[in-house]
Amino acid sequence: MPITTCVFDAYGTLFDVTAAARHAADQPGQDQLANLWPKLAADWRSKQLQYSWLRAVTGEHVSFWQVTMDALDWAMEASNIDDPILRETLLALYWELPAYSEAPKTLALLKAAGFKTAILSNGSPDMLDGAVDFSGTREWLDDVVSVESVGIFKPARVVYDMVQAHLDTPPENVLFVSANGWDAAAAAAYGFQTAWINRAADPVDRLPGKPAHILSDLAGIPDLAGAL
Ligand code: LAC
Repeated sequence: MPITTCVFDAYGTLFDVTAAARHAADQPGQDQLANLWPKLAADWRSKQLQYSWLRAVTGEHVSFWQVTMDALDWAMEASNIDDPILRETLLALYWELPAYSEAPKTLALLKAAGFKTAILSNGSPDMLDGAVDFSGTREWLDDVVSVESVGIFKPARVVYDMVQAHLDTPPENVLFVSANGWDAAAAAAYGFQTAWINRAADPVDRLPGKPAHILSDLAGIPDLAGAL
């Protein structure tokens, strides 16, 4: 089935979620973070995802921003960091996450080739607006779709239903792109053509869906979309 629409996950796929802790460690007076920031970033992301899945299962939805703050509080305590100013710094940096270096060109090439492009993310609309504007990628995106309008996080199927509702494209004509193995698995099981961006060379997740395409970064997506 030819691809007409490319839909991207946001955090970890287009935007580098480790950058907040990494950039905070570069700031004056943050020597304690020099060695700690990789653990802090990993715990923050891991708890953010766990809380999103658990809230989806229990039906206790809050915004992704609340989940992101809760996860940071856990991660800071796990690293014995009690520093309210650092907390505010880290949260502010989350609104200005850089795009991966190949992301803007990937989106620009897809638009130039005539594909519809969009983000489908757990992120709340204001968080996504911040990241999209900071990365300067808005001109290459037809839509930025947040789960907030359905009130449940991925991988609930109702989230993936939003692609057809917002972009008027049936699943078989969508190339769904995510760097999250569990998101790629769920998207493949849903019926999207799916590319997993496996930046860390991780094993394939043992879940019902399997992504048909595995790439190490986003640069190959325009050629892949054109070839399907
Ligand atoms: C998102 C998270 C899951 O952007 O990365 O939806």
